Amino acid sequence: MMWRRQTYPAAGILSSGIVLRSLNIAAEAPAAGCRILFFSDTHFRFDKVSNTCSESPLKAWSETEEIGNAIIRSVDEISPDVLIFGGDLVSHTTLYPAAFELLSRMKAPLKLAVFGNWEWKTRKWLPSSVIEQGFKQAGFQLLFNDSIIYRGIQFSGVEDYRFGYPAIPEAEPKTLFRCLISHNPDVIGKSSPEDLAGYHLALCGHTHGGQIRIPLFGAVRTSSVFWKRFEYGLCRVPGKPPVSVSSGIGATYIMKRFRCPPEMLLISIQDKDSQKNYSYDI
Ligand SMILES: [Fe+2]
Repeated sequence: MMWRRQTYPAAGILSSGIVLRSLNIAAEAPAAGCRILFFSDTHFRFDKVSNTCSESPLKAWSETEEIGNAIIRSVDEISPDVLIFGGDLVSHTTLYPAAFELLSRMKAPLKLAVFGNWEWKTRKWLPSSVIEQGFKQAGFQLLFNDSIIYRGIQFSGVEDYRFGYPAIPEAEPKTLFRCLISHNPDVIGKSSPEDLAGYHLALCGHTHGGQIRIPLFGAVRTSSVFWKRFEYGLCRVPGKPPVSVSSGIGATYIMKRFRCPPEMLLISIQDKDSQKNYSYDI
């Protein structure tokens, strides 16, 4: 089998205008019933970002506060058990305090995050310890090539592909579901099936889905060494876990989204014995 991609259907549009994608997975208790919300690439900035020709009614936003509050409203609406941020919080370093304040207002029993390339990049202007402290004070636990086990689920986060030193933590065989979080999907592309053995799903951001998606073709630019292989959606490569690549929330370089709305992904873990349709079996 060659690699292939599948685009998620929209599960709905949240009252904030952010599109909600969904993925259903079956597992036993205590993992069953757990709802995991993933969002990435907020890129808080001063400029205005426009969002055109998409299913989302959110046509444009400006300033950190507006999109930050939209994310907070979305988190409140979904009320997840685990909230995961996939990296690239700000594009302008001076916005870190405001961004951390917004992160602190997002409510979930467990909040996890990984660094994106922008967190590593902004270390030139702000020490890494200050950025790490900001996430910590906002209630987010950062994972640097590290794992946490919650409700029988292993969450492992790795460092960024371009600026960090990613090393995939070993899968814990006693857990019911094992989820790998990597800002850049290239980590998965470059890792061997042996390194990824035992993982059921990888959650990534970074590509922004291309931001500009041309009908029937999709992204032109993806910022990935694999170009279109991990551009967006549920990407499958033989021998490796499915890789979910989010289009994220914000924008970089071109302050525009075209047919690529800001989105969040809800992963619902349902009881193995229920009669629901699962996105894939683990
Ligand atoms: Fe990004």
